[in-house]
Amino acid sequence: SAAEKGGWPSFMAKEIDEDPEAVANTLRGRVQHDTVVLPDLDALGDDYFTGIDRVVIVACGTAAYSAQVGVYAIEEWSRIPSVVELAHEFRYRNPVLTERTLVVSMSQSGETMDTLMAVRYAKERGAKTLSICNTQGATIPRESDAVVYTHAGPEVAVASTKAFLAQITALYLLGLYAAQVRGTLDAERRAELLTEFQTIPEKVRTVLDVRPRIRELANWMADTRSVLYLGRNVGYPIALEGALKLKEIAYIHAEGFAAGELKHGPIALIEPGQPVFVIVPSPRHDDTLHPKIVSNIQEIRARGARVLAICEAGDAAVLPYADEVIGVPPTEPFFEPLLAVVPLQVFAIELATAKGLDVDQPRNLAKSVTVE
Ligand code: G6P
Repeated sequence: SAAEKGGWPSFMAKEIDEDPEAVANTLRGRVQHDTVVLPDLDALGDDYFTGIDRVVIVACGTAAYSAQVGVYAIEEWSRIPSVVELAHEFRYRNPVLTERTLVVSMSQSGETMDTLMAVRYAKERGAKTLSICNTQGATIPRESDAVVYTHAGPEVAVASTKAFLAQITALYLLGLYAAQVRGTLDAERRAELLTEFQTIPEKVRTVLDVRPRIRELANWMADTRSVLYLGRNVGYPIALEGALKLKEIAYIHAEGFAAGELKHGPIALIEPGQPVFVIVPSPRHDDTLHPKIVSNIQEIRARGARVLAICEAGDAAVLPYADEVIGVPPTEPFFEPLLAVVPLQVFAIELATAKGLDVDQPRNLAKSVTVE
């Protein structure tokens, strides 16, 4: 009903506006000074994280993209080899699992049948299971050895938005916690990351201020047939998620690519006028990723692409080659995805709205897929 939407035209619009709180609420109580506090993990046993040798995250849809972001950080911080697998692929291929494998399921609803079956399969094979879930008491957390809840609040719109930010937040907490237990990150660096983490809700709020500009852009692009998304490192799953949002609610063909793959195929798709979102990492942190992505931008621009760059505000290297620049505040590289995804969510909803579509109930999709 209109009252439940709290004045918003759709649940999805309301839920995007709740992106900042989703991060804040998932962090709340779990950071104390320079330490991550996750009593939720006690159920796995004392020192559990010192004894594991692999993390496998199983998920579907948007949850799988959050997991893809998460494994970059978990592996970097804790040095535990970590991978993501689509739940429906995982359980039909006889994966190697031992009691030293932690199988993490990521699910907003906690009811996705493929993910639930993957959890049951992992348990039968002797792995420990940890559920990261947004819905208290759902089936997946009930059947798992431990649960870390995301606190994004109820998500009603079929396409997931605020839960995605909460999922990344929870995985980062897990990664920092594992690093803390294993001693793989020095305390000073952890403190720095945790301090910055707590500024993210406010920075996400700042990014939401770009809505009017993106609305203009979307109105203008209402007849677009195809949109491409490029990213590297943690920007790569953000490219995939941006494309998924557009498919789901605007019914526009969209593909996300790892920017390094361009020359291995996708660049053949670039023709004059082809819109391409590029997720650009901050130039301040490293001297490898940023120049690489700038040269990717030059390559597609030279072939006529319309470049829509999401980059750190004031990134002068991008300006000469981008048709549109969406600036986000500076942050640590691992927190950039939490900012970069927001304009992509906004773009999808604005484009779907420009086409007159029902953004909360896209055709053929369900909020929670409880059949295999
Ligand atoms: C459905 C929804 C997606 C969601 C996916 C996984 O396909 O439409 O938005 O990402 O299920 O859902 P879960 O509840 O397991 O996160």
